[in-house]
Amino acid sequence: MVMPKNQEVLAVNGGSPVRKTLLPYGRQSIDEDDIRAVEDVLRSDWLTTGPKVGEFEEALAAWVGAKYAVAFSSGTAALHGAAFAAGLKPGAEAITSPMSFAATANCVLHQGGRVVFADVCSDTLNLDPERVGERITPQTRALLPVDYAGHPADLDSFVALAERHGLTVIEDACHALGAEYRGRRTGGIAHMSIFSFHPVKHLAAGEGGMVTTDRADLVESLRRFRNHGISSDARQRQTSGQWHYEMVLLGFNYRLTDIACALGLSQLKKLEANLARRREIATRYTSAFREVAGIIPPSVRPDVKPAWHLYPIRVDRSKLTADRGRVFRALRAENIGVNVHYIPIHLHAYYRDQFGYKGGEYPVAEDAYEQLVSLPMFHGMSEQDVDDVIHAVKKVMAHFVE
Ligand SMILES: Cc1ncc(COP(=O)(O)O)c(C=O)c1O
Repeated sequence: MVMPKNQEVLAVNGGSPVRKTLLPYGRQSIDEDDIRAVEDVLRSDWLTTGPKVGEFEEALAAWVGAKYAVAFSSGTAALHGAAFAAGLKPGAEAITSPMSFAATANCVLHQGGRVVFADVCSDTLNLDPERVGERITPQTRALLPVDYAGHPADLDSFVALAERHGLTVIEDACHALGAEYRGRRTGGIAHMSIFSFHPVKHLAAGEGGMVTTDRADLVESLRRFRNHGISSDARQRQTSGQWHYEMVLLGFNYRLTDIACALGLSQLKKLEANLARRREIATRYTSAFREVAGIIPPSVRPDVKPAWHLYPIRVDRSKLTADRGRVFRALRAENIGVNVHYIPIHLHAYYRDQFGYKGGEYPVAEDAYEQLVSLPMFHGMSEQDVDDVIHAVKKVMAHFVE
């Protein structure tokens, strides 16, 4: 094969990879302060239902600009709690995005509700308010937009729609801790916002989640739901010397431990710096890829500041001799830990089997899915890591461009 001048042999074709070891698409950064914070809890009286839970809730609520926060054992559990608090039950409908992790829609099913998908906007891949408006029925109870990749959804439009129809907006902000929408942080805008503290997120607590809200009535439901439906917690009972408790609704054990909350509190101190680093990396990627044929970098609307949980590029098939699958495999061979976010939820086997989806229902999300590749994006990336990703992407694209 005759190679054009200056073109490197792809690792997938036997050339040497850009990196010797795999760079993951996301990972946590833990420092000595984080370790000490966890150690202190391990030496204390309370491993769970102790004082760190309330401290973490208050600190996170203040940071995002909400009145209240309720901690859960994961983002998935927090979504389930929010679906319950919003009054979703059998017969009720919630409208959400197919371009998300399955947990976003599953919380509606866990409550016996009906998931109604609406297609996404072609620029941000966030739920399209116009299409949502067309799908509202007398059974609709909640709107469930997702801040895909950390770019806030069009929250004002969803809140306005909800107010017009008497609905609750549950914002899945698991990608968007620290993102700004029209000058305000996500978490203080929708009726409830959901965050995740999985290690690939901006703030790592091992596992963990949070619902933030300004509504006191929702807080009470959320607290009970995460604690078996019981009306007072263990520490309250111990400090007041009471044995009596009452289970008033059917809840779960969705509590977050003091161990995780202490780690979360310690990580929160570094969140601003971590966000700044993610934004720096995104700026470097976007300026490097703007001129690369065959790549469409993620779009950013003028009224937002994304939190960059992910950096999903789209490969433009019309300019390439290869499809997304080949580009993906070539980047993996270069030891760049690319990923794909997301297989549209309605195309998963469970949704196809249970609800009869066949593909073709949400063409904007489905077309985007065929093109998406998430590049490594985490605040602990070094300048060399960023250089390696840019080098590998340019190398692979130079090979496949027509
Ligand atoms: C958009 C979205 N929603 C919800 C979740 C669930 O969060 P967790 O993993 O904390 O349960 C995730 C996790 O990746 C997510 O990406």
